Order: sequence, then C-alpha cells, then structure tokens
Amino acid sequence: MLNLVIFGAPGSGKGTQSAKLIDSYGLHHISTGEVLRAEIARGTDLGKLADSYISKGNLIPDDLMIRILDDLLPSLMADGRGVVFDGFPRTIPQAEALEGLLLKHGTELHGVIGLEVPEEELVARMLRRGAETGRADDNEETIKNRLGVYHTQTQPLQAYYMEKNKYMPVEGTGVVDEIFGRIAGHIEKRTGHRPRK
Ligand code: AP5
Ligand code: MG
Repeated sequence: MLNLVIFGAPGSGKGTQSAKLIDSYGLHHISTGEVLRAEIARGTDLGKLADSYISKGNLIPDDLMIRILDDLLPSLMADGRGVVFDGFPRTIPQAEALEGLLLKHGTELHGVIGLEVPEEELVARMLRRGAETGRADDNEETIKNRLGVYHTQTQPLQAYYMEKNKYMPVEGTGVVDEIFGRIAGHIEKRTGHRPRK
C-alpha cells in the first residue's frame, strides 16, 4: 500500500501530478476540491454551504471536511492499493485527523510531496485556467485570498511534516513530465515503490 499527500499552494500542480501518480502507481485519488465542486454542481445542501466558502477562497470548516473524508475513505481503502490525497490536509487539525483515519484502516501516510512554485507562476497559471475553463475561484480577488489562506493556514504543515520526516520538497516548475520524474525519484528513495509503467 502507498498513501501519499500531494501538497502545495493553489495552482502548484497537485491535480496535474495526481493524475500521473494514480496512473503510474495504480493508486486511488481524492481531491477534496473536486469533491466539493461536484457537490456545488449538483446543487446539494453541502454544495451550497461549500460554495459560500470556496467562492471567497476560504477553507470549509475542519470538522465538516474531516467528516466528508471519513465517509469516502472506506471504499478507497478496500483494495489495499493506496490513495493520493490532493488538497487534504490543509490545516494541522486535518493532518492529525488523517493520521487517525489511516490508523483506523490499519495503515499510515508514507510521504508528503511538496510542490514548490514561485507565487508569480501560481497566479499566472490560475488566471490562465480561469480564462480557459471558467473555474469560479480562478479570479484575481479570490486567488489573492486563496494564497493568503495558504500561507497562514496550510503552509505550517510543511514544518509539521518535516518534523515527522515525511516531507519531500519538489521543484514544481518546468515541464510536467520532468516534475513527475523528480517526484518518482523521491518516492523510490523513500519507499522503494517504482512506477508500474
Ligand atoms: P482545490 O481544488 O484543492 O484548489 P487549490 O488548492 O486552490 O489548487 P488548484 O486545484 O487550483 O491547483 P492544483 O495545485 O491542483 O494545480 P493544477 O494541477 O490544477 O481547493 C479549492 C477550494 O476548495 C479551496 O479554496 C477551499 O475553499 C476548498 N477546499 C478544498 N480542500 C479543502 C480542505 N481540505 N479543507 C478546507 N477547504 C478545502 O494546476 C493549475 C493550473 O496550472 C492548471 O491549469 C494546469 O494545467 C497548469 N499546470 C500544472 N502544471 C503545470 C506546469 N508544470 N507548467 C505549466 N502549467 C502547469
Ligand atoms: Mg487541484
């Protein structure tokens, strides 16, 4: 089993690299942002609540986010392959909860891939995507708040995971496949796992 967190600022490439990870290592993927956007698209009560936070670039409350993950995890854990967590955890309480949830499933977190990208590049990527896809939180004002929230609430997890010797810093600029090569190198060194293709 291989359980990884893909960590980084908004626009750092978590979703892009997750797609390669699940394909190459045969893992499941959970993007909490995608889960919430799907609820918004379906117009559910949870979606309406989530939209009131996401549209401003704020995090949804920890207890709600943790409950959602707790509900989704059993089906992802059932086959014993492992999960890429994308966009979770985003706060220290979420990180502590993740440890407990994995323990409940008899497993643990094997590593945290930290995508490191300069802020100007993050903003440029998100503005480009906003123009191309219309993703609602990819506008100048919300991006600014998302980055601020990242610095105050999420970035402290870097030190948290460094202390646990789980953090693997990866330069997140350049060609997508090159970045993936750097990630794969870290994973092999730390866990012995190699891409199956
Ligand atoms: P979430 O969906 O997680 O968004 P995010 O963290 O803001 O990150 P993005 O999805 O924008 O970027 P990414 O790192 O996945 O990069 P991507 O691969 O797309 O969260 C959205 C919201 O949901 C939050 O603000 C919050 O409100 C809520 N939420 C989610 N999780 C939560 C949690 N745990 N707790 C509380 N609230 C939560 O790449 C970005 C762009 O760059 C793409 O267009 C891509 O094509 C391009 N790109 C990627 N790699 C490269 C490259 N190497 N070179 C050039 N372009 C590239
Ligand atoms: Mg994403």
